Amino acid sequence: MTQQVSPSAKNAATSPTVFDPRIVVFACNWCSYAGADTAGVSRIQHQPHFRMIRVMCSGRIQPAFVFRAFEKGADGVLVSGCHFGDCHYIFGNERAVEQFAKTMNVVKLLGIEEGRLRLEWISAAEGGRFAEVINEFTDQVRALGPSPFAAEDAIAEIEAPEGGGCQHSDADSDSDAGGGGH
Ligand code: FES
Repeated sequence: MTQQVSPSAKNAATSPTVFDPRIVVFACNWCSYAGADTAGVSRIQHQPHFRMIRVMCSGRIQPAFVFRAFEKGADGVLVSGCHFGDCHYIFGNERAVEQFAKTMNVVKLLGIEEGRLRLEWISAAEGGRFAEVINEFTDQVRALGPSPFAAEDAIAEIEAPEGGGCQHSDADSDSDAGGGGH
């Protein structure tokens, strides 16, 4: 299989002076997280400067999750879930839209650029789309530069693992279906 390498991914790999943003990706278990998995098994290359946090549904992603990520040093936060009509919990992604709007309002009030926060729908089959979104968002955040909230000691806590690549973790230890809120 021919590997797909985006121009932005090539540039990031060949330029030692380029700013590598630290991005937190909240991904729902049933679509977006699986989409990332599809990108991986399909060997679709993408920029590696993100850490993925799995939640059971995008409706679980409360504003506090996003603020915590910025507080802990993220330069950008991507919220992702199933396309409308595909949510495992029926209306979870509709709730995610409401939560995201509230989050964006506060983000702007805090003086954080809108471009540091993004909402995307990615299905389990869309490995290519996952890679595109990651590459686009990484470039977008890179252009904005480091977050003014990214304190050095906080950044260390979300540092990418040795050897590059993303690191996955679960947001909830209980991981109950849908979490709260819908
Ligand atoms: S399960 Fe994916 S958005 Fe609800």
